[in-house]
Amino acid sequence: MCGIVGYIGKKNAVDVIYNGLQKLEYRGYDSAGIAVIENGKIERRRSVGKLVNLQKNIKSNKIFGNIGIGHTRWATHGKPSEENAHPHTDCSGKIVVVHNGIIENYVSLKKQLQKEKHKFASETDTEVVAHLIEKYYKGDLLAAVKSALKNIEGAYALCAISCEDSSRVVVARKDAPLVIGLGKEENFIASDVSALLQYTKDVIFLENGDVAEIKENSIKIFDTKNKKVTRAQQKILWNAIQAEKCGYKHFMLKEINEQTQTTQDTFRGRISDEENKIILQSVKLTKEEISNISRICIVACGTSYHAGLTAKFLFEKLTGIPTEVNIASEFRYANPVIDNKVLTIFISQSGETADTLAALRLAKEKKSKTVAICNVVGSSVSREADNVLYTHCGPEIGVASTKAFTGQLTALYLLVMFIASKKQTISKKQLAKFIVNLRDVPKKISETLKLSTKIKEIAKMFQNTKQFIYLARNINYPIALEGALKLKEISYIYAEGYPAGEMKHGPIALIDETMPVMVIATKSKVYDKILSNIEEAKARGAKIIAIANKGNKDIVKKSDYQIFVPEVDEILSPLINVIPLQFFAYFVSVMKGCDVDQPRNLAKSVTVE
Ligand code: M6R
Repeated sequence: MCGIVGYIGKKNAVDVIYNGLQKLEYRGYDSAGIAVIENGKIERRRSVGKLVNLQKNIKSNKIFGNIGIGHTRWATHGKPSEENAHPHTDCSGKIVVVHNGIIENYVSLKKQLQKEKHKFASETDTEVVAHLIEKYYKGDLLAAVKSALKNIEGAYALCAISCEDSSRVVVARKDAPLVIGLGKEENFIASDVSALLQYTKDVIFLENGDVAEIKENSIKIFDTKNKKVTRAQQKILWNAIQAEKCGYKHFMLKEINEQTQTTQDTFRGRISDEENKIILQSVKLTKEEISNISRICIVACGTSYHAGLTAKFLFEKLTGIPTEVNIASEFRYANPVIDNKVLTIFISQSGETADTLAALRLAKEKKSKTVAICNVVGSSVSREADNVLYTHCGPEIGVASTKAFTGQLTALYLLVMFIASKKQTISKKQLAKFIVNLRDVPKKISETLKLSTKIKEIAKMFQNTKQFIYLARNINYPIALEGALKLKEISYIYAEGYPAGEMKHGPIALIDETMPVMVIATKSKVYDKILSNIEEAKARGAKIIAIANKGNKDIVKKSDYQIFVPEVDEILSPLINVIPLQFFAYFVSVMKGCDVDQPRNLAKSVTVE
């Protein structure tokens, strides 16, 4: 939520910051702003709405500087308006601040500062930071920021500059991400690496509680004890092109189409051909530790939670370990029963989801062994977990998660098989067969992607529909939930996913001719059951769209529209079946004229509770 960018160097900071904000716009798009130091004064431009509005503003009212900060906002405190847009200033207008996070004690701080005659211009929590820095500023911005932070409770990633000291940007982070990009005679700051890729691949991820002073030629970092520390420099393997649309109309469409490659990237190097072995170098669980696991507890939010629900079937079937799946925001307040025999798995594309991160910290306090499945390298979840399995899907920019989901599923298949083979709950033959089937998945995904034209035609029939039900059973039930989530979030159609067998216990009352039903009816041990569920819905007037395997003639009689996907082994079928649902949501959204990549009210990384 909210993206921040900072720059110091020889370039025009306005251009660098604007370009960076464009890459971070998926984090928030209610309003945006940039401030630079120009001729010894702070110059600031802010605009409500998307970044293009800020661009127009800057074009007609130019600013220039070699040091500056910028922000793209997802409103928490105070409506989207120019007054509430960042950067925020102190009373003198000499200090400006951008912030991602929530200052939880801002009400009491604001009252106190107002008593001390500070004048506020916005309804935001962030503005107190600018005034606090002003209060402590005695010619040293770094010292003032450190003193200000002592008063602050909550989460923050922030950047501050002062026109009285144009040689440095001071930044700080706690429970919100911040990464420094390293250049020659210039340095960059951003909420995540995608904003930096066009300028540098060399980065330093700040640790929780760090404060840093960033100059053109130097970086000083201080930890929570105010001790000067060195943080490791890392090279980012993503490239700037990966974060571009590359001719696609939307990032979501590009990301759906990338899944042939990204699933392959997730398992590449992790399967040994000669020995038919799963090699997960970053998962350091020993055979003994694995045999001691009494329970697996998966924690995640949104789409990542659906990947976890799918994995429950796999862990229980193939490792015999009881597995539960929790929504992170519930888990963290539920007093979960966890000890050192419980393996907790945290799934997060961004690795910055506030609830997932808090849940991970809770599990670690309880001495659980932790594994993170993340896409963003260097993210907080990936750094704090004992073990991390990266999905290697490249940057996912569309707010609706697609390729990250299939990447998460692929990583989970590998983890399940890794644990099952160590525990010897699967035979060598079973593992060998699984590996052959998994290797075949990218080809099957590629065939599935060719169905887009057919799916677009079907989507046309449903673009004015107000509601939808998605049904499936067993391992594909979470895929029904995921399909419904995709439709809801990008086309604003009310959609619900159900395990098909649950319909008779209430939801079937909703069915009439105005309620279309999307059903996953690919080959499985519950195929006959799902056919009965289709009949029941059809008998009550619902239009049925069935996702079935190629060559299934029966389904043509039983459903109104069919999407025929290639057949794969049942346990791998979620990887294929989700793709038509992603396309369907995409096309409906486009036809309805919705903002596919930046749906209303949402942000890509939910870094606040
Ligand atoms: O970055 P994470 O995987 O932790 O994000 C979790 C959810 O916020 C995310 O999956 C969200 O539900 C997506 N918008 C779904 O498309």
